[in-house]
Amino acid sequence: MEGTSIVTIERHIIEAERKYPEASGAFSNILTDMALAAKVISRQVNMAGLVDILGRVGRSNVQGEAVQKLDVFAQDVIYQAMDHTGHLCCMVSEEQEDLMPIPEVFPAGDYVLLFDPLDGSSNIDVNVSIGTIFSIHRKISGETRGTLDDCLQVGRKQLAAGYVVYGSSTMLVYTTGQGVHGFTLDPSIGEFLLSHENIQIPNPATRYYSANEARYPHWEPAMQRVLDRFRAGEEWGGAFSARYIGSLVADFHRTLLRGGIFMYPGDRSNPNGKLRLLYESSPLAFIAEQAGGRASTGTEDILDVVPTSLHQRTPLFLGSTEFVDEAERILKQG
Ligand code: AHG
Ligand code: MN
Ligand code: MN
Repeated sequence: MEGTSIVTIERHIIEAERKYPEASGAFSNILTDMALAAKVISRQVNMAGLVDILGRVGRSNVQGEAVQKLDVFAQDVIYQAMDHTGHLCCMVSEEQEDLMPIPEVFPAGDYVLLFDPLDGSSNIDVNVSIGTIFSIHRKISGETRGTLDDCLQVGRKQLAAGYVVYGSSTMLVYTTGQGVHGFTLDPSIGEFLLSHENIQIPNPATRYYSANEARYPHWEPAMQRVLDRFRAGEEWGGAFSARYIGSLVADFHRTLLRGGIFMYPGDRSNPNGKLRLLYESSPLAFIAEQAGGRASTGTEDILDVVPTSLHQRTPLFLGSTEFVDEAERILKQG
């Protein structure tokens, strides 16, 4: 019988793992566990409106849980999906100041998971797409339980990176360094099915830019020149279109599929911008590179930045290589 065209994310992960005979399977299990967590979060996100209504009248939500912030809910779902599996040595969440250890009652493993449990929080209650972002590194310390050194690794050493976008459909997009692949959740069977194999950012680049232009007056002059250049667009055959959703995952997902450049620069009051390196910029940079694009701080590749703290921020220029190169060229002129 012809191989069925339905490829679940579990099957895709197992077939990718077969290329590494020495693979222990732990790494694949982490990705599968993340897919499970994504399904649970997706269900809650899709209930958010109702949960909110039920919560407001003081009742618990339809699942009988106390209504809680979706960011915290998403973090707890991911942590509890992975804390007992024995594959991770620690975790880092945007919502936790310090690294999250694996409980002593559970075995620790060889990998580190860093994640933004819910990205685009400001869009949760206006029904605009939000997301989850994750990054996986291999433990490098000789410790059984993860240390800060295991978490503060340069982006180029990532083993895997991915995101979930909770939008008109829920999609999980990930790379393990063998291309970027997208899976769409079929809620009727609770499976992520391969829908976008080997995603490549459109080339030649399509003329979209994505930035919070309200910050323009606060940008350095060089950054203002970058936007002016894209607004004019003459070098690329015409004016650009502006698209800005305000959820990094949604803005990046569009950039990955349609092309263009996403920019969150620093400004005079926040020279390092707003977005975090370890669990926002670095994983998306890995995905962008695997899809034929790239990501820069404005002066160097995001993937070459050596982290010094868990929640450090970085300016981010992400998407079609020729536009990121152009932004870098103008910014380096100062
Ligand atoms: P988070 O909700 O995880 O804190 O992330 C929000 C981020 C990111 O999703 C988005 O690109 C950015 O905030 C939007 O910031 P502005 O509202 O300043 O444009
Ligand atoms: Mn975020
Ligand atoms: Mn977040």
